[in-house]
Amino acid sequence: MNIAIIYHSQTGQTAKLAKLMETKLTGNGHEVSLFDLKTNVPVKGGSIRQPMNFEIVNLPDISEFDALCLGGPVWAFGPSTVLYKAVQMMPNFNGKKVLPFTTMGFPFEGMGGKNAINHISKLLTGKAAKVLPGIIVPKMFHNFDELMKKAVDNCLAYFKN
Ligand SMILES: Cc1cc2nc3c(=O)[nH]c(=O)nc-3n(C[C@H](O)[C@H](O)[C@H](O)COP(=O)(O)O)c2cc1C
Repeated sequence: MNIAIIYHSQTGQTAKLAKLMETKLTGNGHEVSLFDLKTNVPVKGGSIRQPMNFEIVNLPDISEFDALCLGGPVWAFGPSTVLYKAVQMMPNFNGKKVLPFTTMGFPFEGMGGKNAINHISKLLTGKAAKVLPGIIVPKMFHNFDELMKKAVDNCLAYFKN
């Protein structure tokens, strides 16, 4: 499959997960393009409950891809405002598979991870995506690298040609 991995990452953790996914998917015969979302002004935090004035400057054209992985960090117990804005700007997915993913600082998925995946999934469903179960990788008290590796192994099953 031709897969786009589109992510936002402020301190590099979600970027690391995205790159592991890229390596895994590429190693299993997929064609993968990686996109690191950028904004016109620095966005260092915030919540989707408080709309902020910024633009995504490098949103890729998603029409050429068969499937997508969309990721960002948990911010303020919800999704990254940058990823959320990017998904809002995306056109209809026309039934394409989309896998949301997130990394988070706190140890339990209920401390923002689930909420982040739910918000992104809801947007995606509204744009006719076939939303796959999200990936959440928490950091505190966990072996972060090991959890990332497991998550990446699991994601392979979602993208069968
Ligand atoms: C502004 C801000 C808000 C955050 N809010 C949360 C939160 O509510 N829950 C949580 O588990 N982690 C929170 N974190 C931690 C990040 O989700 C975590 O460190 C993540 O792995 C960072 O990903 P990145 O390196 O790709 O930016 C927050 C970090 C920042 C900068």
